[in-house]
Amino acid sequence: MTTTRPKGTNDFLPEDTVKWQYVESVLRELALCYGFEELRTPIFESTELFLRGVGETTDIVNKEMYTFEDKGGRSITLRPEGTASSARALIEHKLYGGPLPVKLWYTGPMFRYERPQKGRFRQFHQFGVEAFGSQDPALDAEVISFAMSFYETLGLRGLEVRLNSVGCPKCRKEHKEKLQEALRPVLGELCADCQSRFEKNPLRIFDCKNEHCQELIAGAPTILDCLCDECHDHFEKVKTYLTGAGIPFHIDSHLVRGLDYYTKTAFEILLSDIGAQSAICGGGRYDGLIQDLGGPDTYGVGFALGMERVFSAMEAQGLSFPQRPRCDVYFVALGDDAKKSMFPILTTLRKEGIKGEIDFMGRSLKAQMKAADRVHARYAVIAGEEELKNNEMILRDMTDKSQANIKIEDMKEELIRRIK
Ligand code: HAM
Repeated sequence: MTTTRPKGTNDFLPEDTVKWQYVESVLRELALCYGFEELRTPIFESTELFLRGVGETTDIVNKEMYTFEDKGGRSITLRPEGTASSARALIEHKLYGGPLPVKLWYTGPMFRYERPQKGRFRQFHQFGVEAFGSQDPALDAEVISFAMSFYETLGLRGLEVRLNSVGCPKCRKEHKEKLQEALRPVLGELCADCQSRFEKNPLRIFDCKNEHCQELIAGAPTILDCLCDECHDHFEKVKTYLTGAGIPFHIDSHLVRGLDYYTKTAFEILLSDIGAQSAICGGGRYDGLIQDLGGPDTYGVGFALGMERVFSAMEAQGLSFPQRPRCDVYFVALGDDAKKSMFPILTTLRKEGIKGEIDFMGRSLKAQMKAADRVHARYAVIAGEEELKNNEMILRDMTDKSQANIKIEDMKEELIRRIK
């Protein structure tokens, strides 16, 4: 039996990776426009980082982390997300001491031991941005605008921004008491997970997938009912900036997100076309995270979007990807001697940035011409014994099928002249 890839992971074959490269290039270009710079952090971190960063009451930490002990006895975790790592890097390199805000982006694989299904994987890829050091509500709107511009550039339609504020520790304390008061009479009816959330973090009961829990919490006070003046004011300003930027949004007072670090703004972008896993982007503000990780009091706001879900959405909406660039010239070598004369020409052409290929399968003339067609070559250079005898090669224009015999020593210049 052969070994196959682990459950919940994917191989991306060349027909897929060209699409990834295109989408990543759109993101890189947007990052430049929005003034974000790239950050690369390790794929594994000390487990401690996620316990403190993501939060001990979250599903990610409780059920989904790939955690193991390394040979030195340290507890290591494959990163389940990128915000905690970004915050750690900010603290470790004291980036908060430089010009603010620090605006970073990252992309790469994330790992969560989830039940795999359409749109949900154990190794998946995120693109994320994190902006540190400013409490300006315009920055919350900027990150949402970044994500929306991205989807728009790809041509995706039907996106919905869900927006909420989860307040600050001050308003959350008041809300927690009110929520516990409202739910105490039905505490026994909540699912086991929610019963444990009830004491530690009852806000997350809003996020429970259990239908009965949702019925029980339907009329309970939401965090929006309890926002302090500062959080209320911040929320109003975010809405004003979004409206000003022409970004429609829906207020969803039950949106709490599955990570514990959020304060004030929390948002998700949904797209129903891709089925049950409709969240294509999630983010928000996390003004307490840097301090929770041992850094100085520093604001933060960002988002991460699921790359696999971008591709499902594009497929569902029938959007096309740019074609892979065509081959400039295919060398059809009929015999070893022909190949020996062609190889140096091909090598120098590539140094000029010309995309060239040569046959490696010892195929017939017909089969090599077919191979040239398959890579959509603009030109074919053909030579066998006959041509070499005259110190020539045939240059064939694959579009208009015209042919010319060219001296071997002139072939390089002729190709450069035609292709460039
Ligand atoms: P998240 O909501 O856990 O947030 O993930 C963000 C996005 O990653 C989701 O909206 C979804 O598109 C994608 N995603 C999550 N889990 C999976 C999975 N198992 N398979 C496929 N795609 C998935 C975060 O990770 C936060 N760090 C976002 C953030 C950045 N908040 C502030 N800054």
